[in-house]
Amino acid sequence: MIGNFSDVKSTTASATVSVLLVASECFPLVKTGGLADVVGALPGALAPLGVDARVLMPAYRGVRQQLAGVRTVASIGDLFGGKGALLQGTTPSGVRILLVDAPHLFDRDGGPYLSPDGHDWPDNHLRFGALSRVAAEIALGRLGTWRPDVLHLHDWQAALAAAYLHFETSGAIPPPSLLTIHNLAFQGLFPPDTSAALQLPPTAVDVDALEYWGRLSFLKAGVQWCDRISTVSPTYAREILGPDEGMGFDGLLRARAHQLSGIVNGIDTDVWDPATDVHLVTNYSARRLAPRARNTAALQRELGLDVRSDAPVFGVVSRLTSQKGLDLLLEALHAIVDGGAQLAVLGSGDRALESAYRRAAADHPGQVAVVIGFDEALSHRIQAGAAAMVVPSRFEPCGLTQLYALRYGAIPVVARVGGLADTVVDANEAAVADGVATGVQFAPVDTPSLADAITRTIALYRQPDVWRQLQRRAMTRDVGWGTAAARYFSLYEQLLTDAPR
Ligand code: ADP
Ligand code: GLC
Repeated sequence: MIGNFSDVKSTTASATVSVLLVASECFPLVKTGGLADVVGALPGALAPLGVDARVLMPAYRGVRQQLAGVRTVASIGDLFGGKGALLQGTTPSGVRILLVDAPHLFDRDGGPYLSPDGHDWPDNHLRFGALSRVAAEIALGRLGTWRPDVLHLHDWQAALAAAYLHFETSGAIPPPSLLTIHNLAFQGLFPPDTSAALQLPPTAVDVDALEYWGRLSFLKAGVQWCDRISTVSPTYAREILGPDEGMGFDGLLRARAHQLSGIVNGIDTDVWDPATDVHLVTNYSARRLAPRARNTAALQRELGLDVRSDAPVFGVVSRLTSQKGLDLLLEALHAIVDGGAQLAVLGSGDRALESAYRRAAADHPGQVAVVIGFDEALSHRIQAGAAAMVVPSRFEPCGLTQLYALRYGAIPVVARVGGLADTVVDANEAAVADGVATGVQFAPVDTPSLADAITRTIALYRQPDVWRQLQRRAMTRDVGWGTAAARYFSLYEQLLTDAPR
């Protein structure tokens, strides 16, 4: 039991275990996808369990201005070609953030991964190498600051910390570590000769170290050397043990299968609450569903769709990439258009898909609306106004949009893969009769199945009693962080119990 440990170093009086979450994104500071939502919400969900969780992330331009009480807690000296410092501050919701302040790496316009012209930053290996390096230094207590009991690394951008700890020669004992894989498709691959600039020993590029098909993989460091590995749903945890979703890592993951588990993400039910959401025209709840229709009409007006209550709006809020299967939705568009329904898309990413969606909107005025860009407020209004949210992903480690959809009473129409399979109960006859259905699932992930699912959804929408039952069931499902936080806590406990002391 954690509570029996006498050398817990947390500074929070009531905390029994302290954890450093290391990640490249954290809502509301920087967000390109679900990783930010998870990292932003998990510390608050862990706090009632007695976990003092803090987040380490880069001080991208504009981040420190969003924090309260920012101060410098350590200077780092040279960090891959420039001076670094460690800052600490607090988000508006009270999450404690540690920032790697290294202006030569992070103080620039553009996104966390991409330059303003849409290309990967050429020094991404150094940028996220620096994040990982500082994580390792904090874990070893070298910065003279707070030292965590557990190191919790998220995705490839943080995973190299496991390599710095593995190659540590001082004999210092690092805290136990957990790698959470949010998406195995992103592996942090760089030319092998970057290892010198990253101050890794020559053996780091060996096949039993970080070598991955002739390149160096940051993610592999975490997969090899973290004490535990988790991913963001049990189904994805199984899928990545096979060749299709394993993406070259399946052999290594199979070898570590006993240390691998899947924990379904929660959502921040304060940020995503239709009863209080400030972005909506009207608030509503499972018990007061009628006002929801006003959000639908407002959304139709805002996006230039025909304002018609008999036309169910299918919503999409997504990165436009091949993972998300939105090319399939374009091919299945006839099912929406011919079914008298509408489509509202908010997304950005692949340029060819962006153009194809713009064309679809031009071809179907009043029935298809497309907004290319990233717009947090509009994403809330789509969830509150759409009848259904479509998530036709080819693979989906967890997926958050379907969880927001459940909470907002937008019926999720999802591919039966990964976390989508784990979080949506298909409205087949038996599930509807039992009152347990929350959405529509389809398999295989192809155009005909998606078109069928859309047609099925429109038919359900045209049965108001059944539809209302689906909405109520969806909205009352527990999608908060409680269960997931308890599972992470139990993993931290196991790590501490197993760790050499
Ligand atoms: P992923 O992390 O793979 O992109 P998730 O479903 O886990 O997928 O999380 C996506 C998150 O990003 C959700 O919070 C979703 O609302 C948000 N999002 C995606 N695209 C946009 C966009 N264009 N505008 C606003 N929010 C978006
Ligand atoms: C990744 C995955 C997504 C998951 C998110 C948060 O971006 O693609 O499925 O929900 O991480 O864990």
